[in-house]
Amino acid sequence: MRPIGFIRSPYTDTKEIPKGFGVTHEAEGVLELLPEFAPGLMDVEGFSHLFVLWAFHRSEGYELVGRPPIDNRDHGVFATRSPRRPNPIGLTVVELLRCEGPRLHVKGVDMLDGTPILDLKPYMSSIPEEKLRRGWLAEAEVRRGSAQSS
Ligand SMILES: C[S@@+](CC[C@H](N)C(=O)[O-])C[C@H]1O[C@@H](n2cnc3c(N)ncnc32)[C@H](O)[C@@H]1O
Repeated sequence: MRPIGFIRSPYTDTKEIPKGFGVTHEAEGVLELLPEFAPGLMDVEGFSHLFVLWAFHRSEGYELVGRPPIDNRDHGVFATRSPRRPNPIGLTVVELLRCEGPRLHVKGVDMLDGTPILDLKPYMSSIPEEKLRRGWLAEAEVRRGSAQSS
């Protein structure tokens, strides 16, 4: 795989990126495609949201079982969004604000400035809300709620 472009984000340090329960990512950024891939953006402007597949290029190694910052219990890497994974690929859904040639202005970035983009796809979800289960995250939220109220 090779990058199709790079992300311009306001974040230069991972500490600046909001984390935690119920966090929403409101930061704006720009997906800058390399000129050779720009023709592939034809018709992208009709979509409100995009999947961005990207590389955790500042992450080293991986941990198959670890403790996410938002819980006090261990979980398998494939049940988390940890940057330390065997194939360090990130996935973020962003809102497409506007297109300027090979530059896509988006909202909802949670990656560092200069992050390599591996792929873009239009966001589509046909899974009804009532069918979605949130696994250990939902349980951790309940545990956290009861810890705060006691
Ligand atoms: C929890 S991950 C989730 C990323 C993506 N939404 C996903 O689900 O794959 C987001 C964190 O990855 C880290 N991060 C962001 N960009 C990175 C990069 N280019 N290299 C390594 N770590 C990065 C930051 O600590 C950020 O808060």
